[in-house]
Amino acid sequence: MSIKTATLNGVATIEIARPEKKNALTAAMYQAMADALRAAQADGAVRAVLITGQPGVFTSGNDIEDFMSRPPSHGMDAPVFQFMFALADCDKPVIAAVTGAAIGIGTTMLLHCDFAYVSDEARLAMPFVGLGLVPEFASSLLLPQLMGQARAAEKLLLGDPFTGADAVEIGLANAVLPAGEVVNHARRVAERFNSLPPGAVREAKKLLRKPQAEAIRQTIQAEAELFAARLRSPEAMEAFQAFFQKRKPDFSKF
Ligand code: COA
Repeated sequence: MSIKTATLNGVATIEIARPEKKNALTAAMYQAMADALRAAQADGAVRAVLITGQPGVFTSGNDIEDFMSRPPSHGMDAPVFQFMFALADCDKPVIAAVTGAAIGIGTTMLLHCDFAYVSDEARLAMPFVGLGLVPEFASSLLLPQLMGQARAAEKLLLGDPFTGADAVEIGLANAVLPAGEVVNHARRVAERFNSLPPGAVREAKKLLRKPQAEAIRQTIQAEAELFAARLRSPEAMEAFQAFFQKRKPDFSKF
C-alpha cells in the first residue's frame, strides 16, 4: 500500500509510502489521498490532518512513468485534481512534515497546507518548465504573491532547487528541523488543535483562505488545460525519456 492512513489522538495521518520510487505519486495514490482528506473532513474525531513521507523523501512528485503512459486529462474528476481540491477545500488544519526531497507537487502542495515543517536534509524544487510542462496547483498565482515575481521566476521558470531554510525565508514553511525530529514536531503542532475549539478553528481557517479560494480554483483549471497539452508535447517526451535514460534532456532541436 503506497498511501498509509491512520487516525490517532485527533490527528488523521496521510503517509506517502513508496520509497522504492522516491514516493512518486500515481493516480491511485492521488485518489487515496483525496479519499483520506475527505474522510478526515467528515470525521468529527479528527481535529487536524498530518501529511508526511518517508525518511529522506517527502515526494518526488508525479510519477513520470504515469505522465508518459497515462497522462491525466484536464477533466477535474481526474484523481490528481480530486486531491488538489480536497486539500485546497479542507476546512481542518493541515500540517505537512516534509521529511526530505519535495519535488513538483511535493512543493506546490505546501501552498495549500496551513503549516509546513521541513527536514534540514530536504531539497525542494518545481522543475515543471525543465520537464516541458507548466506550473500547477495554483503555484503560478500563489508563489509570486508569496515571494515576489523575481524569486518566483527563479523557482518556476529556471526550476532552481532550494533548501528548507529558503522555504522558511520566503514564507512557504514554518521551520526547519533535524531530519529525525520533523514528523514528531509536526505531530505535536497537529495535536495542539485537540485543545482548541474546532468550530472557531474551522471558521478562522475559512476566513484565511476565502479571499483567494475562487482565484485558486480558476487558476488550477487554467493551468490544467495547458499542463494536459504540454504532457503530450515533444518537449515533454524528450524530458521524460531523458529522466529514465539518466541523461540530460536535449532541447536544441525545438
Ligand atoms: N517518477 C517516476 N519514478 C521516479 C520518480 C518520479 N517522479 N522519482 C524517482 N523515481 C524512480 C527513479 O526512476 C528510480 O527508479 P529505478 O530504481 O527503477 O531506476 C528510483 O525512483 C530512485 O530514484 P533516483 O533518481 O535514482 O534517486 P535519487 O536519490 O538519485 O534522486 C530525486 C531522488 C527525487 C532527486 C530524483 O529521483 C528526481 O529528481 N526525481 C524526479 C523528480 C521530478 O522531476 N518529478 C516530477 C515533478 S513534476
